Amino acid sequence: MTAINAVTDYTLDGDVGVITLNSPPVNALSRGVLEGIAFGMQAAVADPGAKAIVLICEGRTFIAGADIGGLGSRREERPIDPMGELERSPKPVIAAIHGTALGGGLEAALCCNYRVAVPSARCGLPEVNLGLLPGAGGTQRLPRLVGPQKALEMMTSGMHVPARQCLEMGVVDELVEEGKLREGAIAFARKVLAENRPLRKVRDISEKVEAARGHPEIFAEFRKANARKFRGFMAPEWNIRCIEAAVNQPFDEGIKTEQKLFRELLAGEQSAAQRYAFFAERQANKIPDVPDDTPLIPVNSVGIIGAGTMGGGIAMNFANAGIPVTIVEVKQDALDRGLGVIRKNYERTASRGGITAADVEKRMGLITGSLDMNALAPVDMVIEAVFERMDIKKDIFSKLDAICKPGAILATNTSALNIDEIASVTKRPEAVIGLHFFSPANVMKLLEVVRADHTSKPVIATSMKLAKKIGKVAALVGVCPGFVGNRILGQRQREAQKLMFEGAMPWDIDRVMYDFGFPMGPFAMSDLAGLDIGWVKENSRGETIRDALCELDRRGQKTGAGYYDYDENRVAHPSPVTEKIIQDFVARSGVNARTITDEEILERCLYPMVNEGAKILEEGMAIRASDIDVIWENGYGWPVYRGGPMWWGDQIGLDKVLAGMKKLQAQMGDLYKPAALLEKMVAEGKNFTRV
Ligand code: 3HC
Repeated sequence: MTAINAVTDYTLDGDVGVITLNSPPVNALSRGVLEGIAFGMQAAVADPGAKAIVLICEGRTFIAGADIGGLGSRREERPIDPMGELERSPKPVIAAIHGTALGGGLEAALCCNYRVAVPSARCGLPEVNLGLLPGAGGTQRLPRLVGPQKALEMMTSGMHVPARQCLEMGVVDELVEEGKLREGAIAFARKVLAENRPLRKVRDISEKVEAARGHPEIFAEFRKANARKFRGFMAPEWNIRCIEAAVNQPFDEGIKTEQKLFRELLAGEQSAAQRYAFFAERQANKIPDVPDDTPLIPVNSVGIIGAGTMGGGIAMNFANAGIPVTIVEVKQDALDRGLGVIRKNYERTASRGGITAADVEKRMGLITGSLDMNALAPVDMVIEAVFERMDIKKDIFSKLDAICKPGAILATNTSALNIDEIASVTKRPEAVIGLHFFSPANVMKLLEVVRADHTSKPVIATSMKLAKKIGKVAALVGVCPGFVGNRILGQRQREAQKLMFEGAMPWDIDRVMYDFGFPMGPFAMSDLAGLDIGWVKENSRGETIRDALCELDRRGQKTGAGYYDYDENRVAHPSPVTEKIIQDFVARSGVNARTITDEEILERCLYPMVNEGAKILEEGMAIRASDIDVIWENGYGWPVYRGGPMWWGDQIGLDKVLAGMKKLQAQMGDLYKPAALLEKMVAEGKNFTRV
C-alpha cells in the first residue's frame, strides 16, 4: 500500500490498481481529496502492474460533493485536474459507489469509464439545493448518459436516485453485492479487461442529446410545468440552460457555458443564502450543553393522545419510520374518523405512486387505536396533541405520570401553552418536553423542540435524534409565548392588520409578501385556514374586520369567500365587499387612509420580525440566529434563497433595520422599541449570521 497523501492510498490488487479515499465525514472534494484523485491516478497509470483502476471510498459514503464550506473562497494553488486525470486515463477506470455519490462526487464518477454500486447507494446532482449547478462537467455529461428529460428532472430537483434506478437509467453499469463493493468493483474491472471493453467516455456519447436537438419544446414544456415550483429561484433555470447547452453545443463549448453559469450562481446572493441554510440546518442539531455523547433513550414505540388532524399527522411520521404507534382518543367515532383520515392520506400517496399498496397496509398495521390511556403504559414516548387548554393538558399529564413507565418521554405538541406549568403536575418534570409539529404534521418539515426548565439532557438529545429519524428539521427553543416561530409570526400578522387600517388592502399586502417569495400572504393564509377558527357567532359584536366577514358567512376558502372572493376553481380575487368593510372601519376610526408603498409594506412586516428575533436571542429562547432562520424556512415558507429573517436582516444591513424600528417607535410608540441586542450589534458593527 502506498500513501498518496493524508487522505488517499493506492494499492495493487492483482492486476487492478485501487485508489482509496478516506476523508471523513463524507469524502467531500477538499483540496486533499482532489489531489488524492489526481496523484492517485498518476500513480496508477504509471504502475505497470495495473491494467485497470478502481476509485473507491472508505467510511460512510462515496464522495458527497465539493466541500461546500470552501466553495467561493479563492486560493492560489498549484493547478491540478483530477477530473481530466480520470477521463483521460489510458486504462479503464471504475468508480465504486456506496452511500451517496453526490454533486462533484457523481461528476467524478461520470469521468470514469464505468460505475458500479451497491444496491443501497444513491446518486444525484443536488447542487440546485445550494443555489448552484454542477460545475465539474456534470451538466454536460449527465444529459449525454440519461437524456435531457431525466437530466432536467434530476438536476432541478436534486433528488438522490436509488442505485437500481441508476442502473436502469445507465448512470450505473452494474450492481454489486452489499458489503462487498471492493471485491465487486475489482471483479467488474477484470471483466472489462477480459472482454476487452472500450475506454468509453461519457463525453463522447451523443445519441440522446442529438435526438433532442431541434426540439426546444422539451425545455419550454418543462419550464411551464414547473414554473410554480421554481418561482423566485435562479438555480433551476441556470441548470436548465446548461442542459440546453449540452443538447445544442459541442461538449467543450458546453463546458464553457457551464463554467460561466456556475460562476454567476456562485457569486450571487441566492447561493450564499442557500449554502448558509445547508450548514444552519446541521448546526441546529448541536446543543452547546448537550454533548454528542449524551445517553439516548431508546424510542421503539410511541403513544399519541388525540386522533385529530395534528395527532393523526404526527402518528404518520412514526409509522413511516417503522415505529409502532398507539393513538388514544376519548370516543370511538373520533378514533375511527382519525384512523380513517390516516388511511385516506396513505391511499392518496399510493394512488400518486409515492408508496405501494403494501406500504399502506404495513404503515396502517403499525398504528393501533385505543380508548384507554392505560394502553400507553409500555410506550417509550407519549406525544399529547389535544385542544390548547391548560386544564385539559394538566389533567392528561397527571394521568400520564401515573400510567407511563419510568424513563418514558412525555411530550406535548402545544404551540402556545407554558410547558413548565404542564410539567409541574408530574413528578418527573425532567421527562417533559415540547414537540411542536406544524400542520399538516406528516408534510411540514419543521419540528420546534421546546426545552422546559427541568427537561433532562437525554430527553433533549433523544428528541433531536428522533426528529432526524422521522425526517424532520429540528431546532431547540425555550418556553415563551409562541415559542420562536409563532412569536415572530405574531409580529408580521399584527403589522399586516395594522396596515389594513392605515389604507393598504389585504391583496396589496399579500402581493408584497408573495413577491418577496412567501408561498402566500397573511390574508390568503387566513382564508385558507378559515377565518372562524376561535370565532364564536354568539359572542361576535362586529368589532373587528374578521367579525364582520364571519358574520356575512365569509369564513374563508371553504365558504367561497373571506378576505377574498373565490371562483369555482378556488382562485382568489380582490373583493369589493371586503374593501367596503375595511373602508367603513377606517372611516369610523377617524384615521385618514393613505397610500402605502410596497417598500413600506415590506419594511413594516419584516423589520419587526428581525427585531423580535433579536429579542428572542437576547432572552436565550433560541441558541443562535441561524436556528431562527431554520425555523422560518422550514415552517413558515420564508424563501430559502433569502436565508431567513436574521440572514436577511444582515444582508440589508442591521443599521437600516434599526433605523426603521426607531422611526416606527417615534411614530407609534414602544411596541416598536428596538431590541437591545439589535442596538448593540449595530453599535459594534456586528451582524447575526456572519462572524
Ligand atoms: N461539504 C462539506 N461538508 C459536508 C458536505 C459537503 N459536501 N456534505 C456533508 N457535509 C458535512 C455536514 O456539514 C456534516 O457536518 P457536521 O457533522 O459537522 O455537522 C457532516 O458532513 C455530515 O452531514 P449530515 O449531517 O448531512 O449527514 P447525513 O448522513 O444526514 O447526510 C449527505 C449525508 C447525504 C451526504 C448530506 O450531508 C448531504 O446532502 N450533503 C451535501 C451534498 C451536496 O449538496 N453535494 C453537492 C455539493 S456542491 C458541488 O459538488 C459543486 C460541484 O458541482 C462543483
